[in-house]
Amino acid sequence: ENGQKEDSIIQNDLSESFEEEVRAFLSDEEKLHLFDDLTKVNPVTTTTVLKCLQARYTVNLFYTNAGCSLVALNPFQPISCLYSPELMREYHVALRPQDLKPHIFAVAEQTYRNVQSQLDPVNQSIIVSGESGAGKTWTSRCLMKFYASVAASVISPKGNETVERIEKRVLDSNPVMEAFGNACTLRNNNSSRFGKYIQLQLDRFHHLSSASIQTFLLEKTRVAYQAPNERNFHIFYQITKGATAEERLEWNLPEGADYRWLPNSERNLDEDCFEVTRDAMFHLGIDCSTQNNIFKVRYK
Ligand SMILES: Nc1ncnc2c1ncn2[C@@H]1O[C@H](COP(=O)(O)OP(=O)(O)OP(=O)(O)O)[C@@H](O)[C@H]1O
Ligand SMILES: [Mg+2]
Repeated sequence: ENGQKEDSIIQNDLSESFEEEVRAFLSDEEKLHLFDDLTKVNPVTTTTVLKCLQARYTVNLFYTNAGCSLVALNPFQPISCLYSPELMREYHVALRPQDLKPHIFAVAEQTYRNVQSQLDPVNQSIIVSGESGAGKTWTSRCLMKFYASVAASVISPKGNETVERIEKRVLDSNPVMEAFGNACTLRNNNSSRFGKYIQLQLDRFHHLSSASIQTFLLEKTRVAYQAPNERNFHIFYQITKGATAEERLEWNLPEGADYRWLPNSERNLDEDCFEVTRDAMFHLGIDCSTQNNIFKVRYK
C-alpha cells in the first residue's frame, strides 16, 4: 500500500512538473511563432503544438515542418507572393531548399532532387492528406504548377508543339476533374467528391514527359441526391449557367426550367466557370462534337 502511495506521489510530482513545463513553454508567447519545425517543440502536447501553429497563423506563416512532413494551414484568403514564379525559382535554385522557410515548394523541390540524384530511375510519392476543406486540392495544384514550371520540357528552337503542350495539359486536367468531380458542400465550396492518384512522369533529362491520373471512390450518388444546402457536381451548374441560347436548345436545357438535379443554383460560385472547363477540355484533346455529346441532357 505504501509503495502504491509513493508511486502516486511520484506520478503527481511528475504530472505537476510536466504541467509546469507546458506553462513555461507557452508563457513565452512572443516566441511561439518562431518554431518552424514542430519537432523542436518541447514538451510536445496537443496544446503546445496547436498554440505554435496558431501563433504562426496570426503572423501569416502557413507552413510548418514536422520533421520530414509539412503541416499546411489553410489561410482561407489569397496570400500574395506565396506562390509566385519567383518564389518557385528561389526554392528550385537553393543550395538546400529545406533551409529556407517551410513551404510546399521545399517538399516539391526535395522530391524532384531525390529523383534526379539516383542513377537508376526511382519513384517518389507525395501524400497530401487532411480533412475536408483543409487545402488538399489547392496543395496538389501548387505541386503540379511547381513541376510544370521547374521540370518544363525544353522547347526546341523550332518550337515543338507537342512537347510545349504537355505542361499545359497537365495543369488543364485540374479544372476538368474538378468540374465533374467536385461539388459545393457544407464544409467546402469546392469539395472533391473523389480521391485521385496523380502520376507525373519525367524523361531521362528530368523533364515532364507525361502524366496519368487515376480516380477512385467518386461519390456518384450525388447526381441524384444532395443533402440540404449542398449542391450537385459543378458541371451541371456550369452548363445551365454558361450555355448559349443555341446550346440550350441542342442540349435540352430550356431557359428558366426548374431542375430537380440543380439544387441551390441561385448561389453563384467562382466554380461556375463553364468557359474554363471547356477551354481545358479542348486543350486535353476533347473536341467540340465529343463535348456536345457530354453536355447533352438525355431524358430516358
Ligand atoms: N494555401 C491556400 N491559400 C489560399 N486559399 C487556400 C489555400 N488552401 C486552401 N485554400 C482555400 O480553401 C478552399 C478549400 O481547399 P481545398 O478545396 O483544397 O480543400 P480539400 O482539402 O481539397 O477539401 P475536400 O476534401 O473537401 O476536397 C479552397 O477552395 C481555397 O479557397
Ligand atoms: Mg479537394
